Amino acid sequence: MTDRPYSSLVELTGLHFTYGQAEVLSGINMRFGRGQVVAVMGASGSGKTTVLRLIGGQLRPSVGSVVVDGAAVETRDRDGLYALRRRMGMLFQFGALFTDMTVFENVAFPLREHTDLPEEIIRDLVLMKLNAVGLRGAYGLRPSQISGGMARRVALARAIALDPQIIMYDEPFAGLDPISLGITANLIRSLNDALCATSILVTHEVDESFAIADYVYFISKGTVAAEGTPAELRATKDPFVRQFIDASPDGPVAFHYPARNYQADLGLAP
Ligand SMILES: Nc1ncnc2c1ncn2[C@@H]1O[C@H](COP(=O)(O)OP(=O)(O)OP(=O)(O)O)[C@@H](O)[C@H]1O
Ligand SMILES: [Mg+2]
Repeated sequence: MTDRPYSSLVELTGLHFTYGQAEVLSGINMRFGRGQVVAVMGASGSGKTTVLRLIGGQLRPSVGSVVVDGAAVETRDRDGLYALRRRMGMLFQFGALFTDMTVFENVAFPLREHTDLPEEIIRDLVLMKLNAVGLRGAYGLRPSQISGGMARRVALARAIALDPQIIMYDEPFAGLDPISLGITANLIRSLNDALCATSILVTHEVDESFAIADYVYFISKGTVAAEGTPAELRATKDPFVRQFIDASPDGPVAFHYPARNYQADLGLAP
C-alpha cells in the first residue's frame, strides 16, 4: 500500500454492512484525505452507493466504524448528524432537480433549508454557484428547458450551495456525452480545489476518474480488491483492475447477478 502522508478527513475501518441477511460490505478499509479527489469503483451491485450512505450517516455500520473529521458517525445523535450533513454535499445517483422550480430556486433550496441568510445574500450565492458551473445565464429556466448535461451541472451547483467540506458524487457521469463528461470531470476537480474540499467520486468511468483522482479504490465482493494512485493502477497486472481498465467483458467480474438454477427459474426440472 502506498504511503499517504496527510490526515484523512473520512476514514472507514473494518466496515461491515448487512441489508437483512445479505452482507454487502465485509471488512472495508478506506481513507479519504483532505483536499483529495478519491474515486470508488466497482461493478454494479458491489456496494458503492452503500459506502456513500454509510459516510452520510443514512445507514449505520453493522460492524466497524466511519470516522469523519475525527468523530465516529455512528455515535452522533440526530443533531450531530444534521450538523454533519450540512457539511456534506451529495450528488445522488438518481437525484433529479425539482421540476416545478427554476434553476435558481433549485440551487437556492439548500440555502433556504439550512440557513437564515437574507434574500440578497442568497441571490448572490446562487449566482456565484451557477457561475462556477457555467450556467449563470440559465438561472431563470426550468429543468424541462435544459439538457441532461446542464441539469447535472445545476445539481452540482445545488450540491455545493453550502460550501461543503465533503462532496460525494454517485455516478455523476451517467448518460453524459463525451464532451459533457470531460467538462463535468474537470468541474469536479476544480470545485474540489476551490472549496478545499474532499471529494468522493463513485463511478464506472475509468478514463475520466483516473484523469482527476488522487487515489482510487476498487471494491468487489464486499472488500477492497485493489487501490492505488491512477498511475499505479494503470501499471498493474492485477486481472481485476485490468478488466476495468481494458473494459473487457470477461474476467473476474461476473456479468450476472447471482441467480438460481436457470432451469428452476424456467419451471423446468433441474
Ligand atoms: N435497500 C436495500 N435493501 C436490500 N438490499 C439492497 C438495498 N440497497 C442495495 N441493496 C443490495 O446491496 C448491494 C449493493 O448495492 P449498492 O447500491 O451499494 O451497489 P452499487 O455498487 O452502488 O451498484 P450500482 O453501480 O449498480 O449503482 C446490491 O446487491 C443491492 O442489491
Ligand atoms: Mg450505486
